[in-house]
Amino acid sequence: MTEWIGAIPTQPTTFTGLLDPFDASTQQNPFAAYRSMRRHHPVLHLPDGTAVVSRHADVVDLLRAGTLSSTQEAGAAGAPVASLARHSRSVMVAADPPVHTRRREAVAPSLTPQALGGVGEGVDRHVADLVAALPTTGTVDLAREVTSRVPTRTLLSLLGLDHAEEGAVRTWTTDFSDGISPWAGPDGEESAGRALTSLADHLEPLLEARRRSPTTDLLSRLACDPTLEGDEPLQQAVLLCTAGIDTAADLLASAVAAVAADPALWAATVADRTLVPAIVEETLRCESPVQFLMRRVAEPCTVAEHRLEPGTPVLLAIGAANRDETVFTDAERFDPARVRRGERRHLAFGSGAHRCLGAPLARIQAAAVLCALADRHPALTLAAPVPVRPRLFFRGPAEVLVALGA
Ligand code: HEM
Repeated sequence: MTEWIGAIPTQPTTFTGLLDPFDASTQQNPFAAYRSMRRHHPVLHLPDGTAVVSRHADVVDLLRAGTLSSTQEAGAAGAPVASLARHSRSVMVAADPPVHTRRREAVAPSLTPQALGGVGEGVDRHVADLVAALPTTGTVDLAREVTSRVPTRTLLSLLGLDHAEEGAVRTWTTDFSDGISPWAGPDGEESAGRALTSLADHLEPLLEARRRSPTTDLLSRLACDPTLEGDEPLQQAVLLCTAGIDTAADLLASAVAAVAADPALWAATVADRTLVPAIVEETLRCESPVQFLMRRVAEPCTVAEHRLEPGTPVLLAIGAANRDETVFTDAERFDPARVRRGERRHLAFGSGAHRCLGAPLARIQAAAVLCALADRHPALTLAAPVPVRPRLFFRGPAEVLVALGA
């Protein structure tokens, strides 16, 4: 997702102590570290100068206060490699008002629940096709066969594109998110930059064709939007892919893993589909696909008695905030019932001016997958422990092996 384009120094750094993003066991389970951070180091200073903020209230305050910036200063420490910088200049997520507002307003109307009416039917069709292609018995990796594929097809349909390039688009968006973490280093950034360039090269002629003869699809709306300038239409289209595919794939896989790991919850879901939205919300809270938001201090501010000076890179640890025990009862527990009790304040989609525009679409997809699996595979069970992809910045299963027809 482009929001994390290199606002943070990427020179190799040795991380030890509370939060080591390179440590394999922290990547699998960062939650004990997050707990210590909230309790003892609500502003944790990493060796590279980054301040990590982990309490729910502090994260919300900072996201709403306007003291942090989403932009990068050219030439500043941590500025991204050239290929990334070129693509990040024009995206809404790397901009502050008023430029951010103008870009966001060009896209937002196409992603409201009302506007997505027809898209929802398309999602149901993609999900039905992928679930129907599963065998009736045996062990399958639902991440590979279903959950990683639904978001790519959905995004391509939303833009108005066919699925011929599904595999390539998926690879580019995964390479991008693998390389965009602040801890990916220059090689990761180079790889993310190459992936963005390939994606932009793929979308540019399609956008140009829509400019000449527009249709009703989102790519045409971007191509013909009079408020967007220069390469802004192209870069918002690229952003939709980089923001909306890998994240949604991680949510879908984590939701499936959660129900497959809990036979009682799955049996209840099979019997009553009204449980599905709460399972999706609880997955977003407990297994937030985006664990951190990147910012830079624009105006001096004080957080939990720590003064942050302009230019300081800041990581808002939304994955930690979402398990804050002062906001969520028994916060480490996966408990969809909390949603009915009104505990709905998770920050998985961010908050404030940059709050995720794709939240309704992500929820539609997750619900569609759980409902289709409940229809076709009511007896599925988890066949093996679920490994998390080896990274800290984003979170999602590497595979979800389930036994079908058990
Ligand atoms: C579960 C799936 C998703 C998660 C967890 C997620 C998470 C987020 C988060 C945390 C932000 C805020 C970034 C920031 O403050 O810097 C964001 C922004 C954004 N997301 Fe999502 N996202 C998801 C799916 C999608 C989808 C499906 C789309 C597109 C169809 C999308 C499009 C966007 C856009 C355009 C922004 C930038 C908004 C702005 O800068 O004003 N996201 N997302």
